[in-house]
Amino acid sequence: MELDQRVLGEAAPLVIAHYRRCGRPLPWRDSPTPYHVWISEIMLQQTRIEAVIPYYHRFLSALPTVSDLAAVDEEDLLKLWQGLGYYTRARNLKKAAQIIVNEFGGELPADAVLLRKLPGVGDYTAGAIASIAYGKPEPAVDGNVLRVAMRLTGCEADVLQPQTKKAVTEALRAIYPVGADAGALTQGVMELGETVCLPNGAPLCPICPLASLCAAHQTHREEQLPNRSEKKARRIENRTVLRLCCGETIALRKRPAKGLLANLWELPNELGTLTEAEVRRRYPDALAIEPLPEARHIFTHVEWHMTGWQVVLTALPPEFTPADAAEIRERYAVPNALRAYLPND
Ligand code: ADE
Repeated sequence: MELDQRVLGEAAPLVIAHYRRCGRPLPWRDSPTPYHVWISEIMLQQTRIEAVIPYYHRFLSALPTVSDLAAVDEEDLLKLWQGLGYYTRARNLKKAAQIIVNEFGGELPADAVLLRKLPGVGDYTAGAIASIAYGKPEPAVDGNVLRVAMRLTGCEADVLQPQTKKAVTEALRAIYPVGADAGALTQGVMELGETVCLPNGAPLCPICPLASLCAAHQTHREEQLPNRSEKKARRIENRTVLRLCCGETIALRKRPAKGLLANLWELPNELGTLTEAEVRRRYPDALAIEPLPEARHIFTHVEWHMTGWQVVLTALPPEFTPADAAEIRERYAVPNALRAYLPND
């Protein structure tokens, strides 16, 4: 697979100039310290910018330094992350912060190879920290950058193949600038992918600074590229969620320490779609059993299709932790997947 490196080299100064002119004023851009860049980039994986901004502010107010993050209580960390999803990201941040404190004197390393060894830091995040915070000539290739590169070079390769990402990373590394331009190029290509070179056949070519260089645009293929193979379908899991309540309190339990949503708090739930009679068999003394709306949640590899029942009891079973709406809001990290079943407050 070959990628037209010449066009990438010509595009770089245009992307940098466009970023300096039109880059959005995002909070991590005000003071791009390695810690700030790291936290923002981890949050931005799989999460939209607008959703990240309040979390970013809250996280840094609670944990302003790497040492604070290294020492945070896991329950507090999960609460700070609650709603962002992909909670492994938060646990990895803490593990990596402990390594940074113990092995690097509290400073993130500047070298992408060393950064890459930290838990949760892959090629993309290592490249982003090295280029944005340290001005190193390292690209950070995510889906947006891949799309821009494939259209710009007119490359037909499958973007979901790891070799494609590798080829784009190497071709970009060969033309990368150093210093402030490195960070501007990294953020500029992302910005272009997010605001101009949009996915799903909707690019805004008339306002694109690269239109005159872009192979896809010149050959009217901007709506076809990038090519991608079919993704594997997600597994569907039917689940029944029970809101066991007694007065203002409901029953919570902590999820296991391993696996999906590890250590988060949840409402009791089980595989399958229980009927009212089956719920009644589990709680024969319930004062009332009432249906709750159906809800769905999409994880990376599985989709939960949920049915819910409210079960009104005279006392909550002792194996659960009772919590009212205020405690759930302030203290317990419950995943968004179950939000439809939490009490309103
Ligand atoms: N997406 C992920 N990281 C970003 C950044 N630093 N700037 C713009 N968009 C991004």
